[in-house]
Amino acid sequence: MPKRPAPALRFLDLAVALALVLPSLASAAAPAPARDPHSFARPDEVAVTHLHLDLAVDFAARRLAGSVELTLDRRRPADRLWLDTRDLDVLAVRLDGGGAAPFELGPPDPTLGRALAIPLAPGTRKVTISYRTRPEAAALQWLEPAQTADRRHPFLFSQSQAILARTWVPCQDTPAVRATYSARLRVPPGLLALMSAENPVAKRPDGVYEFRMTHPIPSYLLALAVGDLDFRPLGPTTGVYAEPSVVARAAWELADTQSMMHAVERLYGPYRWGRYDLLMLPPSFPYGGMENPRLTFASPTILAGDKSLVALVAHELAHSWSGNLVTNATWADFWLNESFTTYLENRIMEEVYGAGVAEMLAQLDRSDLVRYLEANGGGGRDSWLYADLRGRDPDETPSEVAYNKGMLLLRTLERAAGRSRWDAFLAGYFERHAFRSITTADFLADLERHLLAADPDLRRRVRVEAWVYGPGLPADEARPRSELLERVDVELARLASGVPPEQLATAGWVTQQWLRFLAGLPRDTGLDRLAALDRAFTFSLTGNAEIFTAWAVLAARVGYEPILEPLERFLLRVGRRKFLQPLYSALAERPPLLAWARAIYARAREGYHPVARATIDALLTSEG
Ligand code: BES
Ligand code: ZN
Repeated sequence: MPKRPAPALRFLDLAVALALVLPSLASAAAPAPARDPHSFARPDEVAVTHLHLDLAVDFAARRLAGSVELTLDRRRPADRLWLDTRDLDVLAVRLDGGGAAPFELGPPDPTLGRALAIPLAPGTRKVTISYRTRPEAAALQWLEPAQTADRRHPFLFSQSQAILARTWVPCQDTPAVRATYSARLRVPPGLLALMSAENPVAKRPDGVYEFRMTHPIPSYLLALAVGDLDFRPLGPTTGVYAEPSVVARAAWELADTQSMMHAVERLYGPYRWGRYDLLMLPPSFPYGGMENPRLTFASPTILAGDKSLVALVAHELAHSWSGNLVTNATWADFWLNESFTTYLENRIMEEVYGAGVAEMLAQLDRSDLVRYLEANGGGGRDSWLYADLRGRDPDETPSEVAYNKGMLLLRTLERAAGRSRWDAFLAGYFERHAFRSITTADFLADLERHLLAADPDLRRRVRVEAWVYGPGLPADEARPRSELLERVDVELARLASGVPPEQLATAGWVTQQWLRFLAGLPRDTGLDRLAALDRAFTFSLTGNAEIFTAWAVLAARVGYEPILEPLERFLLRVGRRKFLQPLYSALAERPPLLAWARAIYARAREGYHPVARATIDALLTSEG
């Protein structure tokens, strides 16, 4: 740790506290700019426009060590650069290539980390920070060889969204700021390094890799991964990286990626990032997918063997427009990223697989939202699209609203405006705000100006403000209707009327129909009925992670013993939070299983990403 004079630190603590409590005092002269409450940065004064990372990857010490050089745009007179850090060891700071310069770290906040304040001279244009990450850096997961598919080499990956970039790079960690970046990574020989940038396709014998991202991106899209990885092309501008034993299976499953690219370009304009590749991660990846630019990170739980879970690829690809090109300015505007993406995802699925599949996916998304609203007394403030995240960790907020309620608003606008006008508006929206970060108010102004102004009747028909700044699901929604799911409901009714499971007409059902089936079973389905269903459909043995999770939740709730062995294996292998959360919650409902879950978690925790650990820690400590 650097030595700092104590009185100066105390003064800085006070300054940070004041700046947080009274942002308007921070600059008395000009009107107070709206700042991102999840960042200490003051980009209205000084904005970082380029980062150059020079880092060595040390698996034994579980550390990244090296430096970042920040290029500054001095926007207003300011004598300090304010950066975000969390659990970083800052070793030294230099200004414009000079000698060691002073710096100060503010008091730690468990979610936000510590402000790093660097005094600047009026002409300072570059700041270089030498630093090291800590083994507990929340963005990074360091995997032992045993946690990979091939079990021979260690693996490292990052997950920066929402506010975890600051745990591996001192930066202005707010999506309001965009910067280009370049990087040089030194990794152990025999491993490939990848970033959200122009990437190599083969290993370099010296283990030194160089990267460039020439488009300005927000910090949450900074990403890296290091492991024993191979590459397979999927089309002229698309491909997949995965461990050697997984890459062929991954290439087969993701074969439609290039067609998805054609579909979305046809609808919403050119892909602006050059190549689009995917990286298939080990199963501890805490999300299904993450839209790191040029290189989507994906969970291997989407490899169902029948291409039935590729909507996730459509989703992450769509983020190349909604999210990466046009970005939420703060996490309160997160719905702009995710609901536009969920909407685009659905349009891509319609183009590539037909309207029947797309309607089925949309109706399932809607059911998830309705279930969430019902379970949460109608939803309250948390069911507004515009989120209230003050004092909260953006990673711990529910997704049904930001994703699915917003998607339904966009469907509703599509229906009201007509598809061709709506698509023209959307294509224009991406064009008008390309490589910009915008707020909810910016979107509403753009919608008003470019769609509603010319059509007052449209404005009357869709109550956009009530969707954005109000709770629940408004009655004017354009509701999806799926014939494929209605067929499932028919079979559910037959089951309820006494038809034995093996006589149901389930031939040819796809994953989503099975999910509907499992979600439609009565909550009080007992042990005998579960056993009969398991005999007929072998749910406990399925390798499909979505179906397994839905089934295991039902089974755990009623204490169906045969689930325990496969569930134990699943919980020890898979770290995707979307599955872990309902599974551990279901187990926590029954005291004997809660004890069992705690014992499994004690063994599994070490293998989960910090993001998943935080969620399950909270879940298992709050339950009795
Ligand atoms: N960007 C999100 C993942 C994310 C959101 C990470 C917020 C951290 C904070 C990604 O695009 C996403 O939505 N992933 C979903 C899959 C999608 C098909 C709904 C997931 O991981 O489940
Ligand atoms: Zn998303």
